[in-house]
Amino acid sequence: MSVSYITDLTGKTAVVTGGGGVLCSEFSKALAECGAKIAVLDLFEEAAKRTSDAVNANGGYALPYACDVLKKETLIDIREKIISDFGSIDILINGAGGNSPKATTAQEFLTAEDLETKEGSDTLNFFDLKPEGFNFVFNLNILGTLLPTQVFSEYMAKHGGGCIVNVSSMNAYRPLTKIPAYSAAKAGISNLTMWLAVHFSKLNIRVNAIAPGFFVTGQNEKLLFDKEGKPTARTEKILAATPMGRFGNPAELIGTLLFLCDTKASSFVNGIIIPVDGGFSAYSGV
Ligand SMILES: NC(=O)c1ccc[n+]([C@@H]2O[C@H](COP(=O)([O-])OP(=O)(O)OC[C@H]3O[C@@H](n4cnc5c(N)ncnc54)[C@H](O)[C@@H]3O)[C@@H](O)[C@H]2O)c1
Repeated sequence: MSVSYITDLTGKTAVVTGGGGVLCSEFSKALAECGAKIAVLDLFEEAAKRTSDAVNANGGYALPYACDVLKKETLIDIREKIISDFGSIDILINGAGGNSPKATTAQEFLTAEDLETKEGSDTLNFFDLKPEGFNFVFNLNILGTLLPTQVFSEYMAKHGGGCIVNVSSMNAYRPLTKIPAYSAAKAGISNLTMWLAVHFSKLNIRVNAIAPGFFVTGQNEKLLFDKEGKPTARTEKILAATPMGRFGNPAELIGTLLFLCDTKASSFVNGIIIPVDGGFSAYSGV
């Protein structure tokens, strides 16, 4: 699908964390098509480079940076490199995030039969969940949003402002079964988004979030499709609970992303979380 965007981000620099991933590589390409220069940050250098290569091949301008969003010192070093490479930091997309199998239960509902631990089982029931799994998910999503925000917003605060977009999720509204840590962490992202919006409101830094519905990406593929690529029971439930009856296409998040980054279109929009979900969050199931 080829789309021309009306948002003009010429002269701006966007920092995109998790920029090597499925959704944030699309975000990077779209921001670049609107004229922004893109600093693509990812834990994996190759992933960051894949995205920056794609942006550059499309006529944009991007540079890759290998970066763990949980390492504040690394983020500070990268901020200085970005300022030297690009000259400013105007937009931050906090896209790095995700779940862990170590914080995922095997069952949707715990029943009496599940109370016996099954020898050799590689799936977890609620009582087997380890703090390490929760730590990983809380850190990646919450600290992984907080630390880049601290580091990059400091530049924005000292240079006239900027715009931050976080990535929440459907499970921030109502938790999804099996993924308690990810649900609680994304509820935290929505809450932190509002807190940050208030905190930065005197400094011309707006903070908003997108809450994507269901998009098939690397991190949820195994829950959604079996080894033969057939939809799992979970996929059938998701599609039945999505009034539009399908998964989203990452390109369908772009209009909302650009709206939130466009200082003209959304100049008074601050502290909101926009669902882009085919109606999932509006549907009671009846
Ligand atoms: N796919 C969906 O349906 C969906 C729905 C709601 C929200 N989200 C959120 O959207 C965001 C993007 O996810 P995605 O679906 O594109 O997944 P993805 O796995 O394709 O992308 C995530 C990227 O983040 C990078 N990353 C992981 N840990 C990192 C770290 N410590 N430091 C820097 N980078 C790190 C990964 O290498 C990967 O490239 C995430 O915050 C996710 O929770 C996704």
